[in-house]
Amino acid sequence: MITALDHIAIAVPNFEAAIKRFMEDFGLPFEGTEDVLAAKTKTAFFPLPATSIELVHPLNGDGPIAKYIEKRGGGIHHLCFRSDNILEDVARLKAKGYEFLSDSPSPGAHDSQVIFIHPKSCDGVLIEINQPSKDH
Ligand code: CO
Repeated sequence: MITALDHIAIAVPNFEAAIKRFMEDFGLPFEGTEDVLAAKTKTAFFPLPATSIELVHPLNGDGPIAKYIEKRGGGIHHLCFRSDNILEDVARLKAKGYEFLSDSPSPGAHDSQVIFIHPKSCDGVLIEINQPSKDH
């Protein structure tokens, strides 16, 4: 029985810069670092409340997910952070130099507003920011 999403791991080329990004730019609570000798890795954790796994699949055989699957066959596609003020967060991150895939948010699942940060601004990871609709 699966009970929770325990964590998502992102391989990062610059450990300190990535910690700073998740702490300062995304404002996540930083638990600290731990060296895992057996895995020859150092780790940093940012605990978050309950989340969802989203499975994404092309709707009509084309679009960005179709291209992704054609190229890689499937895989971890993006992380999505929830925002309570997406326009403010986008403006703040743009001011820090983050590039987005679109100029402004567009409709997402659950009547949310969503926007994606370009993977090149986040060590190759596609990050979505969403703001759920008020009645969801
Ligand atoms: Co998503």
